[in-house]
Amino acid sequence: MRLEFLSLPENVSLARTCAAAVVAQMDCTLEELEEVKLVISEAVSNCIIHGYGNQPDGKIILEISLYDNGTVEMLVADYGRGIEDVARALQPAYSSEAGRMGMGFTFMKSFSDHMKVDSTPGQGTAVTLIKNLGCQGKQALA
Ligand SMILES: Nc1ncnc2c1ncn2[C@@H]1O[C@H](COP(=O)(O)OP(=O)(O)OP(=O)(O)O)[C@@H](O)[C@H]1O
Ligand SMILES: [Mg+2]
Repeated sequence: MRLEFLSLPENVSLARTCAAAVVAQMDCTLEELEEVKLVISEAVSNCIIHGYGNQPDGKIILEISLYDNGTVEMLVADYGRGIEDVARALQPAYSSEAGRMGMGFTFMKSFSDHMKVDSTPGQGTAVTLIKNLGCQGKQALA
């Protein structure tokens, strides 16, 4: 699934719902679906707030790939301002904006099995999240 949408706040819920609808085709738990919704919300919110500084005319890409072994690969990308220091951005409780918790990346990391952040200042940011669905994995083993 590939979706392209504008950096409007209401599109956080669009992205979250579309991601859950795609992943629900797999044999997964409601808890896993909630985790997918959470990580997509965090990633898309970051594109809007940080990537585009809340400007509504930025382009955001969401891609979801499903694999037979129960692996879900999610990509969220923007063409915004990018991240100067990715290692610092990934630290729990770091935020470049006063008043934010700085926990988005920490949640994305803990509710997925693998997270990769590629970012170039002035060009944009791509976050790849891999999640292995437990039920499907067990079925594959059986
Ligand atoms: N798409 C992005 N474009 C540019 N900078 C980003 C992007 N995503 C994250 N960042 C940078 O990484 C920092 C950490 O992101 P993270 O989601 O962990 O925390 P936050 O968004 O600041 O706070 P919270 O998610 O708790 O509201 C951000 O403060 C921002 O500086
Ligand atoms: Mg965030």
